[in-house]
Amino acid sequence: MEIHEALYTTRAMRRLRPDPVPLDVQARILDAAIRAPNVEQQWRFLLVDDRDVIGALAPLYRIASEKMLADFGITLADLVRMGGPQSRTARSALYLVEHFHELPLLLIGFSPLRGGAGIYPALWSAMLAARAEGVGSTLTTILGEYCAPEAFEILGVPPDAGWNMHAVVPMGYPLGRWAVAPRRPVHEVAARNSWNGDLGFTVDAPLWSPG
Ligand SMILES: Cc1cc2nc3c(=O)[nH]c(=O)nc-3n(C[C@H](O)[C@H](O)[C@H](O)COP(=O)(O)O)c2cc1C
Repeated sequence: MEIHEALYTTRAMRRLRPDPVPLDVQARILDAAIRAPNVEQQWRFLLVDDRDVIGALAPLYRIASEKMLADFGITLADLVRMGGPQSRTARSALYLVEHFHELPLLLIGFSPLRGGAGIYPALWSAMLAARAEGVGSTLTTILGEYCAPEAFEILGVPPDAGWNMHAVVPMGYPLGRWAVAPRRPVHEVAARNSWNGDLGFTVDAPLWSPG
């Protein structure tokens, strides 16, 4: 796959088929991922495809979602009611909560480094490599943020060894279609030389589109 197609169309795919992702595909995804920028490879990846383990994590993912939204004083149902593009993401997020137990594969990233900067490049590379294999994915962090001790117990992660669970990336063959991720254009979110400096160009439509 041409790199721009992967860059433009690797967006959150939360509606996934339960069909397994073959081991050779998983191997190509992870082997590409570990080429990413890193801090002396202080990372550990856990691939989870055991139905019982995913089934045990599913209620935790729901609890984590509820806790995260409670921090903002809202529920998932409130978000969906709001309407607009936010509500599309909320419906998609709610779908993931309700179908987590059906996911065929999770890629979980751990690092002893705080903040996740040491492992996010590799996880994004994994998501791009997955895209090239026709495998959809979504970067999620709430499980580690809100339910790490419980998840560590389910996953057999040594609790006092200093590992942080930075992200859980559900992976699987998508139910929906690939599309260019909608974003505010670069000239609205970038500047040059100073905070409000003229960027020097505007981009009114994505510079890559499907042939
Ligand atoms: C650091 C980080 C953490 C995220 N955590 C979650 C999460 O826990 N659950 C979730 O559904 N989406 C989460 N998201 C959002 C999705 O991964 C996705 O990027 C977002 O919904 C935009 O989707 P799009 O690329 O299809 O536009 C997170 C994104 C980032 C960057």
